[in-house]
Amino acid sequence: MSAGTGLLDIHLTEDDAAAALRDDVRTGLTAPFKHLPPKWFYDARGSALFEDITQLPEYYPTRTERALLAESVAAIAEASGADTLVELGSGSSEKTRLLLDAFSRAGTLRRYVPQDVSAPALRAAMDALAVDYPGLELHGVVGDFTSHLDRLPRGERRMVAFLGGTIGNLRPHERRVFLDELRAVLEPGEQLLLGTGLVIDEPTLVAAYDDSAGVTAEFNRNVLRVLNRELDADFDVEAFEHVALWDPVDEWIEMRLRASRAMTVHVRELDLVAEFAAGEEMRTEISAKFHVAGVRQMLQASAFAPVQTWTDPEERFALTLATAVDGDVLA
Ligand code: SAH
Ligand code: AVI
Repeated sequence: MSAGTGLLDIHLTEDDAAAALRDDVRTGLTAPFKHLPPKWFYDARGSALFEDITQLPEYYPTRTERALLAESVAAIAEASGADTLVELGSGSSEKTRLLLDAFSRAGTLRRYVPQDVSAPALRAAMDALAVDYPGLELHGVVGDFTSHLDRLPRGERRMVAFLGGTIGNLRPHERRVFLDELRAVLEPGEQLLLGTGLVIDEPTLVAAYDDSAGVTAEFNRNVLRVLNRELDADFDVEAFEHVALWDPVDEWIEMRLRASRAMTVHVRELDLVAEFAAGEEMRTEISAKFHVAGVRQMLQASAFAPVQTWTDPEERFALTLATAVDGDVLA
């Protein structure tokens, strides 16, 4: 299917997304500790709110990762020889422009494959890239990186970028499955460029997820608006308070929504009634932070050999380049 600005594959149709949302909401709202997966934040409004978050003074990850990319892309592009850059959870593809520019100077890249669960964000990104990179083949994929990796287009030599620290939004077991599945679809020698937030002091971490302008709170509550619209639910959105807390044992930020009073919520499309007690909290996202050594171990466990890691002077964020290898090489 053509988006007018390049090829657009739909691996996640609106029907698939609706079915997945229904399953996730039924599971999450009937659990003893209610929870929703973070991928449902990202309708058009949620994606726009995330872009607003990236501009906040408290939200250091985006600008830190951008600085790391600025420092490293020339060497990465020159050494890579990739003809295809695949990006998972690409969103606006803003920071990716640094990579695209460096690859264009190195002269090997032919094609960019942004993949995102959010069709509106992907289309907007592709429209903008088509104008600014007229010589680049664009092949967008609307898909879920937790289930559609096997359908990614092949290339002669691919580099997969997974930026922003989004891997930290997966639970530990999901992370392992994700990296194993990614490794399984790559050929030895193909590369992964992974962005990870690092464990730093609690006040800085918490402020990044509880900004003074309340943008993250709006982003968090947006998932309830998605449920109201898509599943004919009747959440009183403003009656849920944003909570961001640091879990020092699991080393992740947990975002929750706290019911400010007792509420009965009807999810009419699911014929489901969910009771919230006053003060009850529902988990909406984890954002795990890592240690550099832990990132390297996590990659090695899935047969990716780390090549180089870049960190900022304050060690808030890491960018790691790794190569897919045969499992026994690392054994
Ligand atoms: N990579 C960009 C955007 C990060 S926001 C950056 O670094 O700034 C996270 C992005 O991942 C969003 O665009 C969201 O729509 C997408 N996303 C979240 N869960 C996803 C999933 N399961 N599969 C594919 N994309 C997903
Ligand atoms: C996309 N992801 C890496 C962001 C994060 O920092 O975990 C999402 C986000 N949640 C709250 N603010 C930003």
